[in-house]
Amino acid sequence: MGTERPLVVSTRTELRTALAGAARPVGLVPTMGALHEGHASLLRRARAECATVVVSVFVNPTQFERPGDVAAYPRTLPSDLEVCRRAAVDVAFVPPVDEVHVPGATTVVDPGPVASILEGATRPGHFAAVATVVTILLGLTGPDRAYFGEKDAQQLHVVRHVVRDLAIATEIVGCPTIREPDGLAMSSRNARLTPEDRAAAPVLRRALLAVRDAWEAGDRDADRLRAAMRSVTASEPRAQVDYASVADPGTLAELSGRVDGDALCSLAAAFGAVRLIDNETLRAR
Ligand code: PAF
Repeated sequence: MGTERPLVVSTRTELRTALAGAARPVGLVPTMGALHEGHASLLRRARAECATVVVSVFVNPTQFERPGDVAAYPRTLPSDLEVCRRAAVDVAFVPPVDEVHVPGATTVVDPGPVASILEGATRPGHFAAVATVVTILLGLTGPDRAYFGEKDAQQLHVVRHVVRDLAIATEIVGCPTIREPDGLAMSSRNARLTPEDRAAAPVLRRALLAVRDAWEAGDRDADRLRAAMRSVTASEPRAQVDYASVADPGTLAELSGRVDGDALCSLAAAFGAVRLIDNETLRAR
């Protein structure tokens, strides 16, 4: 590997050449750019665990519901590369669309019913598009490990299942959510919040802390746990809640009655035009 890091490559061939004979383990951090401290934490984890670190910066058009959203997605490549440089990333793969989705490509990875619940209920096709692009990126990079944020819990779940079901030899590493000082989970979307909505958005974290408190106080009733989140979000009129879920972390199916094992509590809410998600896993121990 040369001394100028990261080496920026944009084609499949350049990526293969850059990784031919690369020291293993190879770690991949797939991103859509607009890198923030949450991404930086994934890069640092990959750097600590892998001999070669690859980041992909690719705004995947197929996972957006509206073409306008793709065009509006922030593109900040110079600062992204600076984040990569600080994290000592070896290779940055920054491809045009047809180097990922080759002309005439028709194959779609269908993650099954889990793609239609929670985030998938309002974003039809989203998780098939994510599963497909992640499969392509894993195929192009051949990493030993790939790093994803736990904030996108359903995405992480889908990716783990794709890798298992399709026998892809990559270990999927989930990394903790990085938060602003007021508890708001870091997301590229936060920059689009109005000042009023930015001030309101930490209600998601407060709701998750409330359900954690209820759990730690011994409450195991799924409906009451959901209500504990709702009672906090209801105090914030700017939050238009889509779902407050208490689900089985293994299947993402909603729990009912008494919860005996772990529970994944997740929330989605719109603040103006910006939809935010967050989650907390409650452990039965
Ligand atoms: O989480 C993201 O940034 C994207 O969904 C991913 C995993 C890079 C696929 O485009």
